[in-house]
Amino acid sequence: MYSEKVMDHFAHPRNVGEIENANAVGLVGNAKCGDIMKIYMDIQDNIIKDVKFKTFGCGAAIATSSMATEMVKGKTVEEALELTNKAVMEALDGLPAEKIHCSVLAEEAIRDAIEDYRKRQNEQQ
Ligand code: FES
Repeated sequence: MYSEKVMDHFAHPRNVGEIENANAVGLVGNAKCGDIMKIYMDIQDNIIKDVKFKTFGCGAAIATSSMATEMVKGKTVEEALELTNKAVMEALDGLPAEKIHCSVLAEEAIRDAIEDYRKRQNEQQ
């Protein structure tokens, strides 16, 4: 039912944890199931230098969070905003239809963190 890549990212999620002194933090909940994801980013000169996450959710949410963090690491803020849950699912070789809503969590958490980053930037000016 799950692809090998999904199982791999679920069993060995990349970038799990927190970043102390993160300058962007996103927190989102999944309206469908109530699961949540928190994401931390260290953004320097518009580049996402480091990213870590904690997902309190199902295996598909953990696998998509893991893959999404891998896909935005080293990218610019603008590039990260273009990441879609569809692209994350494709990178994982797909998800079962009833699990597609789980992949939205990572996309939304990344957007929420970047919004937080931009808010903090504006406050500094
Ligand atoms: Fe909640 Fe998958 S069932 S994120």
